[in-house]
Amino acid sequence: MNHLLDFENIDNSKLEQLLNQIINIDQDQLNIINSFALLKFDESSTRTRLSFSAAAQKLGIKVLETSNNISALSKGESLMHEIETYKGLGINVLVIRTKENNIEDYKSLNDLSVISAGFGTTSHPTQALLDVATLLKFNLLNKEIPITYIGDLKHSRVFNSGRELLNKLGYKVGVFTSDNLMPENLRGLHKFSDWNEIFENSNSIELLRVQKERIHNLQDFDFKTYTKKYQLTSKILKNAKKDFVVLHPMPINIGIEISEDASKDYRFIYNEQLKLTVPTRIVSYLYALGIQ
Ligand code: CP
Repeated sequence: MNHLLDFENIDNSKLEQLLNQIINIDQDQLNIINSFALLKFDESSTRTRLSFSAAAQKLGIKVLETSNNISALSKGESLMHEIETYKGLGINVLVIRTKENNIEDYKSLNDLSVISAGFGTTSHPTQALLDVATLLKFNLLNKEIPITYIGDLKHSRVFNSGRELLNKLGYKVGVFTSDNLMPENLRGLHKFSDWNEIFENSNSIELLRVQKERIHNLQDFDFKTYTKKYQLTSKILKNAKKDFVVLHPMPINIGIEISEDASKDYRFIYNEQLKLTVPTRIVSYLYALGIQ
């Protein structure tokens, strides 16, 4: 039994094995697993929730769903009693999306694997696996800085897990954003100051939306100034190489992080990321259940 809350206790050979499994898995050859997974999503989700559900069905894992809105949490229940209940019901894996940043509370749990499906601003490890597997699939991990993240890095769990995974695998991670959306800790990062510098030194970029729901004093955020400098447009993308790649974890906000015209460019390969959503969650369940 393993937790997949971040990459802290997973060694590099295991990470490389997981990434290779994601891009090579044969979904027709899966063995049926007699387990229960509980999907507890307290924030909205399309891709992560549905792909964890689809992956469970492909593995034969039975899925239950809940959220804070329909649980007894509002009656003052403690996390400990909630978890004891899950274990008592025979749940083997808890897949959780939450706005809370209390990931440490889950790390010491026994007899129940916990997978982060987006934990506050802290972690989204399966999205990071999916993104890095996409780079692996397209042979884009051959530079010191294979990818540059652009957008709301300060509040992004996609970025946090991406940098953790890439740094652990020995890569530096490029960053390009406004000062008010830049993370405080710059260890393992390389700050770029313009688009052409990124195109010369990276193989890819991952665009991130501005997380309006997590920005205090949103009314003071100057979207006009931000998009002028950090929105990817066709004019900017014209300067990138033909094999340069643009990633996005989705949901995409056209007109903020990317313009309508750039979103139609063949180098914007979010559809390739979507193809790996189910394989990534299959591999995540297998890891969490200690099956490989
Ligand atoms: N990338 C991602 O986490 O998408 P959802 O919010 O739709 O799950």
